[in-house]
Amino acid sequence: MKSPIKTTVLSTILSLPILLASTQLSASEEVMHPGAKVYQSACMVCHVAEGRPTIAPPIFAVKGHVIDVYPERDDFIQRITSWVKAPDEKDALMRGAIRKFGLMPAMPQLSDDDLQAVAEYLFDTDMNLPEWYKEHYEEEHGEAPKEAQSE
Ligand code: HEC
Repeated sequence: MKSPIKTTVLSTILSLPILLASTQLSASEEVMHPGAKVYQSACMVCHVAEGRPTIAPPIFAVKGHVIDVYPERDDFIQRITSWVKAPDEKDALMRGAIRKFGLMPAMPQLSDDDLQAVAEYLFDTDMNLPEWYKEHYEEEHGEAPKEAQSE
């Protein structure tokens, strides 16, 4: 089921932390991967890394699905950047997630540099699969998930 109201409200709320983040540069943020900052301000609110997801699939599941189909770094980055600019139901890899959470809203407020950085960050960072997700995956797919790692 789609919920357009929920996503509209969310995208409005989401543009706020991004504006704030760009005006406040602390010492710790300067040494962080630039993509980690984008991820934390623009993606993490929906794509949680811990706990059961309520708004969107967790980030390791997202990475796992995308890297299965786009194992090369350049293709992976291209896929992430074009998806975030314009999520398209017809082109989605996570159809079960669309049924459960609705289509991801487009995020036009992110610059090309931000998108490139966050896509690199996702590819380069190992995401661990928690136990509950392995069980869920086996229920849905009948096999254990591959670890979503960049190698
Ligand atoms: C408002 C909540 C929300 C935010 C913020 C969000 N997403 Fe999503 N995203 C979703 C939902 C819901 C899905 C699952 C449904 C779908 O695929 O559209 C999803 C799916 C995805 C997918 C899988 C696409 C596919 O092929 O099915 C990718 C990749 C993705 N998100 C990347 C990102 C990145 C990168 C960011 C941050 C720049 C981000 N998302 C921010 C809600 C969000």
